[in-house]
Amino acid sequence: MTTAVYPGSFDPFTNGHQDILERALGIFDKVIIAVVRNPGKNPLFTLDERVEIIKNSIPAGSNIQVECFNGLLVDFMKKVDSRIIVKGLRAVSDFEFEFQMALMNRKLNPEIETVFLMTSADYAFLSSSKVREIAVLGGEVKCLVSPYTDEVLRKKLAGKQSGGENVEKD
Ligand code: PNS
Repeated sequence: MTTAVYPGSFDPFTNGHQDILERALGIFDKVIIAVVRNPGKNPLFTLDERVEIIKNSIPAGSNIQVECFNGLLVDFMKKVDSRIIVKGLRAVSDFEFEFQMALMNRKLNPEIETVFLMTSADYAFLSSSKVREIAVLGGEVKCLVSPYTDEVLRKKLAGKQSGGENVEKD
């Protein structure tokens, strides 16, 4: 049984993430979605909210697990006994950063392989930061995220309206 880990900030989980998840499930027996606790940015959603969004956006099944992690990804990989990291690639612009991370993770643990899956062309333009930006500016994100995420985004932004927080950061 091969278990892969799909790590990310998922702030929030989008249809593009869903696409990569489905592709990974077509290759591996099980996929653990690993939500990083501190993305090093100021996330719009709390860790619990990001996890809840994922759980409400994906199909139920024993071949998918949602977990949180703190610290190094390679340490989490050891904890869950997996040596395959799945990452999505949208465009050449993603490559440099992902390549650096993959090589660094390999340096930290040579047993770990990073597998890059190409996103569907339908989602090549899609990112969590664009979803946040569009939602903040009052645009429609229904076709970019799950119905649950759309609803939670609306509620979150309605609550922030008077706070003036910057939600455009990636
Ligand atoms: O969705 P993101 O923000 O592109 O995900 C980035 C993530 C979570 C995969 C990356 O930041 C990460 O692995 N963080 C854990 C810390 C770590 O292991 N750093 C060294 C990797 S080179």
